[in-house]
This record gives sequence, structure tokens and C-alpha cells, in this order.
Amino acid sequence: MSFCWTTFDVTNRLPNGWRRAARAAGASADFREFPRTPILSRESVQVPYIRRGRLHAHQVRPRLPWLYQLYRDFFLELAGDACAEPVAPALDERYGVVLNVQRGTRMRFECHVDSNPLTGLLFCTDHPAGGGELVFAHDPAATDVEAVDRDCTVIRPHAVHLIFFDGRYHPHYARPLVDETDIRVVAVMNFYTKFYPESTRPPELNRHLFGDG
Ligand SMILES: [Fe+2]
Repeated sequence: MSFCWTTFDVTNRLPNGWRRAARAAGASADFREFPRTPILSRESVQVPYIRRGRLHAHQVRPRLPWLYQLYRDFFLELAGDACAEPVAPALDERYGVVLNVQRGTRMRFECHVDSNPLTGLLFCTDHPAGGGELVFAHDPAATDVEAVDRDCTVIRPHAVHLIFFDGRYHPHYARPLVDETDIRVVAVMNFYTKFYPESTRPPELNRHLFGDG
């Protein structure tokens, strides 16, 4: 099953100093071991947690107000261009736009599928030394990182690239960085569609992330 995505170069729409701001916000993320996500995880059973950083939506809004705004206007327009259906941002402020962060070589992002029908990712950092690639399985049944790697599409992060994809059927994860001093910051945005609205988001996911339904 092939995987496709859409890339936009959004250089002209980002404010001066955005990279520095995103990097600083990323460095202040909550770094720890995150337990496997219920329902959506595609990690091997031997992996109980994955170490990484997250800047929560309520922290993104005051730290990076331009990102919060772009999610609701210009990036939403682009999301509409990338999708055959009308799209909407999340109404629930807890998960609309968050930062996922990796620092050093021992963090990566959990192998999982998405619950929302359209995801936007704004890469905020480049990685000349390598690593940090976003890897999508072609096989919807892939259940761990090794299975994803066997037959996959690999996307290298480029700061200023905004990509959109439907990650519900292609398990995906982010590889560790290669340079111990490197940091990877990506803004993750959830979008919904008319036929797959926000009400389809699994309540277990909110309980896991926020302690309620
Ligand atoms: Fe995802």
C-alpha cells in the first residue's frame, strides 16, 4: 500500500526569528519516558516506554503565538489544499498543536498510527549529521520499528517544510538523531474532516494523555 504526502515550503509565512523561538521552546519541553499509547501504538511488546520531549498545547500557545495562529488560518488553508474534504482544526485546546522534541541520540518518537484523518508537521530544525527521519511503513500491519523499516518511505526533516499526510493506516515513527548535541523540534497539528470529525477521537487517548475523557 503506497504512502503519499504533500509538502509546502512556508518560509514566507513564518515570522523573523521563528527557528530560534521554536528551538528554545523545544528545549524547555517535558523530557521523560512516555508510556506506550493505548490503541495507536505499533511498538514491539518489549518496549514499555519511549524517551522523548513534548511541549503541550497549553504551553505552545503563549510561547509560540504565531504557530497557534497559523494552525487556525494559513496552515488550515494549506491543509484544505492537501485534502479532498473540507478540513477543520481541533476545537479541544489540549491537542491542537504540540511540539515533539528529541535531544541527543537516545530519544525517538513512538511507532504508532494516527487517530485523526489529517496531520500537519512543521519541521523546525535541520540535521546535517543525519537522523531524525520520519519513517512510514507501506504495510498497514507493521507492528514494530523493524517491520516499518523493511518497506518504508523515509522523510528527512527540513526546517520550513510543512507536510500533510493521513497517518491512520501507515505506522510511523521518528528515528533517533546521530549527533549527541543535536535537537529535533517538530510542530504537530491535528486536523479533522467532515466525514472523520473530532468526535471520532478515541476517549482512551484523552484519558491516557490528560487523565480524562
Ligand atoms: Fe503520527
